[in-house]
Amino acid sequence: MSFLIISSQRDPKGWVQALKEKQPDLDLEVYPDVADPSKVEFALSWKHPHGIFKDYPNLKVIASMGAGIDHIIEDPDIPKNIKITRVIDEQLTRDMSVFVLALIMDYIRNLSFHYCSKEWKPTKYLRPEEIQVGIMGMGILGVGVAEKLIRNKFHVTGWSRTKKEILGVTTFHGDNELNNFLSETNVLVCLLPLTSETENILNKQLFEKLPEGAYVINVARGPHLVEEDLLEMIQKGHLSGAALDVFRKEPLPEDHPFWTNDKIRVTPHIASVTNPKTVVPQILDNYRRMQDGKELEKVVDREKEY
Ligand code: NAP
Ligand code: GLV
Repeated sequence: MSFLIISSQRDPKGWVQALKEKQPDLDLEVYPDVADPSKVEFALSWKHPHGIFKDYPNLKVIASMGAGIDHIIEDPDIPKNIKITRVIDEQLTRDMSVFVLALIMDYIRNLSFHYCSKEWKPTKYLRPEEIQVGIMGMGILGVGVAEKLIRNKFHVTGWSRTKKEILGVTTFHGDNELNNFLSETNVLVCLLPLTSETENILNKQLFEKLPEGAYVINVARGPHLVEEDLLEMIQKGHLSGAALDVFRKEPLPEDHPFWTNDKIRVTPHIASVTNPKTVVPQILDNYRRMQDGKELEKVVDREKEY
């Protein structure tokens, strides 16, 4: 039985090292140099080339290297009986919370503007108490971000699929409550998983429900956002700007208009990057569970797509 790492777009070295440190006798293979595909039962994966899992007849589990699993389930060739797991990690949540706080602070204190202006030109700024941050997606990361913002005196609302009670957060759920959620949101943060229901959710109709001058932060996935709609709503002045960490095409092409729009801040998918060291114990725990025929942890619901 072997353990396969597939990490076509990220260097797998950190994972190999962390796995070997925790379990030196692990029979580890790194794609594409796989001696015997029929021995592979567990794959740890990030953005695998579609269709390759057909070559692994005894594969039972695909573990995502990150919180999102859209990069796995968008491959139509993955048999339904294969279990898919995701990462839940305190450090990943902390990194995301700090990152979103930093983006909001940059926005309300005009920091990027001042760094770039090279002029002594004080601007008016907003205070956290004056801002309502609306978080779309009140899962592991959304709740972590909410807690961080509340500690920093922001007003926080959250929107999810099912009803939630979260201390200090005004919560909304389902399509029926989306408009109410949006109507008083000054800073909208997207932390939804990418599913057939949430793809393109950040579109013109949704932006129109936000108050004039609202700011949009997307730290979830590129396909949540209809890019032309964002550009149009910024150009019209309905939105004051956006901070984007994720894109339909990554790396963001050099000639993409987001790079040169002075109302849009671009970061290269760095909001929260999994640290192999902190996550390897939960991955190996699931590997052992699989070997012992036990229930796995952090399994995603293939029907819900997250
Ligand atoms: P999660 O725990 O699964 O939470 C997802 C949340 O979204 C839940 O609250 C869920 O509602 C809500 N949701 C799902 N579908 C919905 C719908 N149709 N309408 C309304 N709400 C819906 O996920 P997470 O761990 O917080 O991660 C969220 C996403 O962040 C990941 O999927 C990934 O794409 C992204 N991410 C990005 C980075 C980065 O560096 N930029 C890093 C890590 C993760 P319920 O609670 O009612 O189920
Ligand atoms: C990163 O984007 C993740 O899903 O963990």
